[in-house]
Amino acid sequence: MPENWNSPADVRDALEGAGYLADDRIAQVVFLASRLDKPILAEGPAGVGKTALALALSEATGRRLVRLQCYEGLDEAKALYEWDYHKQLLRLQSDEGAQWDDLEGDIFSESFLLERPLLTAIRSSEPVVLLVDETDRIEVETEALLLEVLDAYQVTIPELGTIQAVTRPLVVLTSNNTRELSEALKRRCLYLHIPYPTIEREQAILEMRVPDLPERFAEKIARTVASIRQIPVRKAPSVSESIDWARTLLALGIEELDDAATASTLNVLLKYQTDIERTAKDLSLELGDEMQAK
Ligand SMILES: Nc1ncnc2c1ncn2[C@@H]1O[C@H](COP(=O)(O)OP(=O)(O)OP(=O)(O)O)[C@@H](O)[C@H]1O
Ligand SMILES: [Mg+2]
Repeated sequence: MPENWNSPADVRDALEGAGYLADDRIAQVVFLASRLDKPILAEGPAGVGKTALALALSEATGRRLVRLQCYEGLDEAKALYEWDYHKQLLRLQSDEGAQWDDLEGDIFSESFLLERPLLTAIRSSEPVVLLVDETDRIEVETEALLLEVLDAYQVTIPELGTIQAVTRPLVVLTSNNTRELSEALKRRCLYLHIPYPTIEREQAILEMRVPDLPERFAEKIARTVASIRQIPVRKAPSVSESIDWARTLLALGIEELDDAATASTLNVLLKYQTDIERTAKDLSLELGDEMQAK
């Protein structure tokens, strides 16, 4: 393990150096993941910093980031490896007189293999961070593709045998919990729930991410966003939205974050007209004409 982390506090400092503010729990799980060589399963609502954690880990450790973006229909050929059929075909055509036995060994060899992210992470000679992003988007059957990588850091290719990782990747899987992940997958990971940050931490995140933001704005934004998260809206504002809001206020040259300013920029925080109206009502804000439904 190239990281010289002796405690969760070391992890927290390293992540902060990469622009990521970890709470105690995040720092502890990352520390344990690196000590125990276990993948992290980061789960929580949208926009709370799950993907950003993997990016920050890559930056903090100097490890290259290898990313597998999950989506419905993702299969082995896109996640692990694929044979380069085109190249194989050309090879077959160029050597029509050869024996099949010779050809078979030839076209199912390394030079006809197309690496996909999981295999890339396993074969990399430099240590990497492997991000398996939005794991809950793949079908539960497809999760099986991940299991060998996650518990043994290896990939088996029938024609070539088992390929063992040269260096242990730091693995982060993320999930928005749109469906339950399998027990088999969960068992192999250290579970990390990332909730919405506390007001203090969100304020600190804003100050870090939006450098010119006046301190009083950061606090007010964090407070307002926290109170909106208490309202049962369809899509609660996440850290991404509070960062966007801070940038919006600066871009518009708003000097005072009063009710009028909040009301006229609610569309940056909320993505449904019904949420905007509900929030305005709950916070007793007067929506201007431009924010009213027609
Ligand atoms: N603890 C943090 N420190 C610094 N920045 C953060 C932190 N948490 C979130 N952010 C910022 O918030 C934004 C959203 O984070 P990110 O994209 O990682 O969310 P996510 O949890 O992966 O969301 P989704 O589920 O929608 O993919 C990013 O710009 C990220 O940098
Ligand atoms: Mg993400």
